[in-house]
Amino acid sequence: MNIDNIFGSIGLDKASEVPLYAQVRDGLLAEIASGRIAVGARLPPVRKLANTFDVNLMTVARAYKELTEKGVIAGRGALGTFVIGHVKEPGVAPQPATISRETYSVREDDTFARMLQFSGRQGVIPFTRAYPDASTVDVASFEANLKEAIDKHPEHAYSYIAPDGLYGLKAAFSKLMKQERNLALDPHSILVSSGGQQAISLVAQSVLKSGDTVIVERPTYFGALDLFRTLGVKILGVRMESDGMDVEELERLVSASNPKLIFVIPTFHNPTGITTSLEKRQAILEISRRHGVAILEDDCCSELRFCGASLPSIKALSDPQDEVYYFSSMGKAYIPGLRLGMVVPPHGRLGEIVKQKSVADLHTSPLLQNAFQLYLESGAYEGSLARTCKSYSKLLDKISDELNKVMPDSASFMKPEGGLNLWLKLPREVDSIDFFYACLQRNVSVLVGQHFYPDNAETNTVRLSFGHSDEHTMVKAVTAMGEAAKELQGRPASRFPVLV
Ligand SMILES: Cc1ncc(COP(=O)(O)O)c(C=O)c1O
Repeated sequence: MNIDNIFGSIGLDKASEVPLYAQVRDGLLAEIASGRIAVGARLPPVRKLANTFDVNLMTVARAYKELTEKGVIAGRGALGTFVIGHVKEPGVAPQPATISRETYSVREDDTFARMLQFSGRQGVIPFTRAYPDASTVDVASFEANLKEAIDKHPEHAYSYIAPDGLYGLKAAFSKLMKQERNLALDPHSILVSSGGQQAISLVAQSVLKSGDTVIVERPTYFGALDLFRTLGVKILGVRMESDGMDVEELERLVSASNPKLIFVIPTFHNPTGITTSLEKRQAILEISRRHGVAILEDDCCSELRFCGASLPSIKALSDPQDEVYYFSSMGKAYIPGLRLGMVVPPHGRLGEIVKQKSVADLHTSPLLQNAFQLYLESGAYEGSLARTCKSYSKLLDKISDELNKVMPDSASFMKPEGGLNLWLKLPREVDSIDFFYACLQRNVSVLVGQHFYPDNAETNTVRLSFGHSDEHTMVKAVTAMGEAAKELQGRPASRFPVLV
C-alpha cells in the first residue's frame, strides 16, 4: 500500500474523549508495529499529516514528540522525520481500547466504522467479521480472471456502462441462483448492485419517503437500520422467535401502522443466525399480499449452509404479481471487498431501481463484473464454497463447544445452521457494553447487541461473528470471553477505565 494511503486509513474518532494527538500517536504506533510503515520510512511533514487527518498542526506535532521520546521516530533536520525502531519498553504498545464505558453510547449512525475501529487494531482478535477469510476462498482463480477480463473486454475495463450492469454477469448470477438456491430468475430482471448494502439502499430510496413506516425483525442487521434512519422513516421491530418473526405481532403491526416495507432476512439472519421456517415465510408473504405492503428479502448468504435442508426463499414462493424485492451479495460467501451484489425487484419496478442506481453511483465497476462473470463461468466458485463451508462448519463446532464449556450457565446461544453469526445472550445481569470492554481488555473484539435494535435494546446480547478462520485463535478468544462474562457476573457496571 502506498504510504499516504496508510495514513489515510488511520481513522480518528473526533467524537471520542481520547485526545486526538493520542489517537494519531497510537495509529502510527500500530502501523509501525504491524510493519505497514517500515523502519526507515520517512514520515510526512507535520503540516501534511495534519491536513490528511484534518486536525490542528499541534495535534500531529505532539504525537511526533511523544513518538520521538519513545525512540520510535527521529527528526533528521531538513531531511525530515524517520521511523527508527519499534516500541521498546513493555507497556507502551498501542492499547486496544480507546474509549470509555461512558462514551460507548450506542450511536445510531456509524456501527460499521466503529466495528472496524476496534477489530482492526493490532493484536485484537476480531470476533466481529461476518465474512470469510481470504485464505478459505479461492482468490487465486479470481485474480487470474481479473487479468483475463482486461484482455478480453478492454472496452469495459475503463469505461462507463449502463447502470443496470452487464448482461453476462446477470446471466451468470441467474444460473448461480438456480443451481444454489433453486430460484429461477430471468437475467433481464436483475440489476447488478455494489454489494448488499447498496441493494437495501436502492430499494429503500425507491419505495420509502420520509415519514413512512418500515417493519424489521427485532433485532436486525445494523446497516439496514442505519440506512432507514438516514431516510427519516419510522422503524418498527417485530420480535424474533427461534423460527423467525412472530407473525401474529407482524400482522398486528402491519394492520395498525400501514407500513410501506417489511425488511426480512429469512436465512441465517444477521445477527441471530436464525432461519425462518417455511410456514413463516409463507405467512409473511400472505401478510404482504393481504395488506399490500412490499417485502425486501435479504438473502446474502444462504449457500453458507453447514447442516439442515435448504428452504425456498420468499421470492421463490412468490408469484410474479407479488411485491417482493429480493437481493443477494457476493460478500458473505465469497469476498466483500468486490462490492458485488444483485437486486431483483418485482415485475414492473426495475426501471425505478435502475434510476436509483444511476443517481447513486452510475454503475458497478465493469471490470469487476466481467472478472466475476468469468470466475463464475469457470466453475471455481463451487469448489471455493465447498471449502469455505467445510472450514467454517468445523470452526463453528469448536466455538460452540468452547462456549458451552466456558460461559456461565445462565448465558445461552443457538447454534446456527449456517452463516457466520452467532448471537450470545449473556446472563441477564451482565451488560453487553461492559462485556465488550472486558473482552477488549483481553484483546478480543465483539459487537455489542444494542446496535441491532430499532428501539429499546436488550442490554445483555452480543453478536459473535466467526469469519476469522484461525481455529486456535478463535477458541482462545472464546475462553477469554468466558472469563470476561464470569468476572462481570455480580459486579456493578461501569468500572472500565479510559484507556488512552
Ligand atoms: C444481512 C446483511 N445484509 C446485507 C449486508 C451488506 O452486504 P454487502 O457487504 O454486500 O454490502 C450485510 C453485511 O454485513 C448483511 O449481514
